[in-house]
Amino acid sequence: MIPTIEWKNGAVRMLDQSLLPNQVKYIDCRSFERVAQGIKSLKIRGAPAIGIAAAMGIALAAQPIKAKNIFEFKKKMAPVYEAFSKTRPTAVNLFWAIERMKGCVEEAEDLPIGQLKAFLVQASQKMLEEDIQINRAIGRHGNKVIQKKDTILTHCNAGSLATGGYGTALGVIRAAHESKKNIRVFADETRPVLQGGRLTAWELMEDNIDVTLITDNMAGYVMSLGRIDLCIVGADRIARNGDTANKIGTYSVAVLAKQHGIPFYVAAPLSTIDFSLKDGKGIPIEERAPSEVISIFGKILIAPKKVKVFNPAFDVTPARLITGIITEKGIFKPKDLKQLAGD
Ligand code: MRU
Repeated sequence: MIPTIEWKNGAVRMLDQSLLPNQVKYIDCRSFERVAQGIKSLKIRGAPAIGIAAAMGIALAAQPIKAKNIFEFKKKMAPVYEAFSKTRPTAVNLFWAIERMKGCVEEAEDLPIGQLKAFLVQASQKMLEEDIQINRAIGRHGNKVIQKKDTILTHCNAGSLATGGYGTALGVIRAAHESKKNIRVFADETRPVLQGGRLTAWELMEDNIDVTLITDNMAGYVMSLGRIDLCIVGADRIARNGDTANKIGTYSVAVLAKQHGIPFYVAAPLSTIDFSLKDGKGIPIEERAPSEVISIFGKILIAPKKVKVFNPAFDVTPARLITGIITEKGIFKPKDLKQLAGD
């Protein structure tokens, strides 16, 4: 499994996903600003991976800080949290990771500053390792809904690349593949940034999992041919009632699945559930630059340069269209998700 992100020789090393599948190139980020820029510009993307990157970026920012005491240290860290919180608004894992790192500072505030810095590096690495274990658990639970020879439709990339490793939606697919169920995958291309074509197709082919690429507007036809048994997607933020924000186009897939009587599953860790939101209306939806829509990676124009563009990066699938939410704690009907809130 190719690492998406790691702490290496005092730097945050990330795979530049904006170059895939043409180039496999790593960037060594030696400043937290570079990590934040990497998140913003989609060099690293996918909700859990964004959270891990922010945690490592926070640990990185702590290293050069000169502080006489913990109060000074905390004061110098405040703009770092702020910078990461402004990178991308939708994936709640980002804010979850920032809060967790702040909690680590509180937990270790009695340590000498030098040891506190080392503790933050360990904490961010632990987050990465935990994420892989969580994804394996998601895979084990999700595997139960997959029959031998099933064909699964997925949207965007919720794979190893989007997480610490193994993946959420693709984690379920990997688990089914490892248990020799002879599954097949249809990957939506996922306009406009093509995470399905560039990342999911690439990642599954690397693992010898049978994958067929379609453009997003082909999903309904493929379903009407009876070629899809179930859909599994990832999530960027799930509200308490199960409404789920994921990559733009996910909602259309869910509507199509309902129309064709095909089960539609969301696979995500508990860190993607925002129990503070009663439903999906409160989920902030990122809007990105028109250039993503009117050109191919800013190089070839495919629409008039000055055309008005609306480019929301995510949409919200209502809970009523979701068959089940696969987490590391098991599979839940959207209405039962609140059992996990712990309140
Ligand atoms: O804009 P992106 O590429 O960060 O969007 C990613 C997605 O929407 C994924 O499906 C989601 O984050 C789940 S990743 C396990």
